[in-house]
Amino acid sequence: MKLITPGMKMADVIHGNYLLLPVINRFGIRLGFGEKTVREVCNDHTIDVDFFVAMLNTFSNENYFPAKKIQTFNVLTILQYLQRTHEYYLNTLVPLIEQHLKTLLARSGRRNKSLTDVKKFFLDYKKELVAHFKLEDTVTFPYIEAVYNAYHHRTDKSVRNKLSSYSMKTYQREHTNIDEKLLDLKNILIKYIHGDFDDASCNAIIFELFRLEKDIQDHTRIENNILLPLVTEMEQALKIKMR
Ligand SMILES: [Fe+2]
Ligand SMILES: [Fe+2]
Repeated sequence: MKLITPGMKMADVIHGNYLLLPVINRFGIRLGFGEKTVREVCNDHTIDVDFFVAMLNTFSNENYFPAKKIQTFNVLTILQYLQRTHEYYLNTLVPLIEQHLKTLLARSGRRNKSLTDVKKFFLDYKKELVAHFKLEDTVTFPYIEAVYNAYHHRTDKSVRNKLSSYSMKTYQREHTNIDEKLLDLKNILIKYIHGDFDDASCNAIIFELFRLEKDIQDHTRIENNILLPLVTEMEQALKIKMR
């Protein structure tokens, strides 16, 4: 797929890949672009256009991951994007899958155990997702913000305490792969579903699972390959500064 550039019309970006719509929404941008270019839309929303374009291209091209370029962006911008992505998963994508599951159960044979198993598997997975995002939103990201502020502004005693109670090493060690179970769930449906079931709602669930899986993989890539090395460097600089 052609790389997205700031000079392209926003509407053409969507015509080229409509799956980018939810990614664009994550930046607070909504439909009704008219003839505006990507740069113009970003200016209207005070969004860093280079970061925006880097995220869109990462999402649309499997082989495009400008690690070096993303590292030049502000850590707080990256954090905000990651946080909004968590919100999108929990408030939009997960409820959508749950809705499809409900329809699937309502439209299929009542006593089809393979379907209740799918629902149970998904609800267990949802719990895992919620816990993963909660940990990042309440522990990891606030820690990163504190490190960022200390690095760019001033260091005080509270930073010293924070640095000794948590670190990016801990994050690295504990950061789990949350996309693995999605492959299992897709396979339960694709390979093993049987009995009386509604095809359309089953397909709808599979489509959304593929979408969620891909989105989460991109998300995790940004956390592991961008955020982690960037903040580790800041931690090291701070430790030297505070010696
Ligand atoms: Fe995350
Ligand atoms: Fe994560």
